[in-house]
Amino acid sequence: MLMRYWTVNRRGRSIALIGMMGAGKSSVGRCLHRRTGLALRDTDEIVTGSFEMSVPEIFAEHGEKKFRDAETEALRRVRTEKEMIIITGGGIVLRKENIAILRSQAVIVWLDGDEEALFARASGAQNRPLLQTKNPKKTFSQILAARRPLYANIADIRIDTSVLTDEEVAVAILAKLRKMNPKPKSPSRAKP
Ligand code: S3P
Repeated sequence: MLMRYWTVNRRGRSIALIGMMGAGKSSVGRCLHRRTGLALRDTDEIVTGSFEMSVPEIFAEHGEKKFRDAETEALRRVRTEKEMIIITGGGIVLRKENIAILRSQAVIVWLDGDEEALFARASGAQNRPLLQTKNPKKTFSQILAARRPLYANIADIRIDTSVLTDEEVAVAILAKLRKMNPKPKSPSRAKP
């Protein structure tokens, strides 16, 4: 079912998904895209497209700093386009400029969850260079502890994804957006 965008977000802003690796930003973004008809942009995809390399390859060959620069550049580029769903990488909150760009154009939705659930999802795929350590679980825990306050600080909406399917998360986001942007009452007729 396609939900007309204006019925959920009358302020005409984009919807940015933030959160830790494993939070489900990409899959939830695709659900939102199907439900709203809004365009979809993914900063990781823009970055890997510009390097023509995978994220682990970029980290290995160019280092994290170059990846972060390209990530910011990707966000600058999406800023000029019209309303859309913006899927971000988990580290998007590490730079003030990224936060300013997101805040200026989007309702920011934080996909959170239990550490266990997030780690189980994040460690399933082998495409996260930050987790290629001796003790990925501990690394994950440290990154999560450092980032949670950053996510909390900029989020307009927080969803606990631990026990929800991607579709359920998308539905919960749209319901919260509708609540934030209630339908304007039709003007009452002036009394004679
Ligand atoms: C990162 C998260 C990744 C990707 C890169 C760095 C991070 O994206 O941008 O590996 O710093 O948390 P996902 O959040 O989609 O895994």
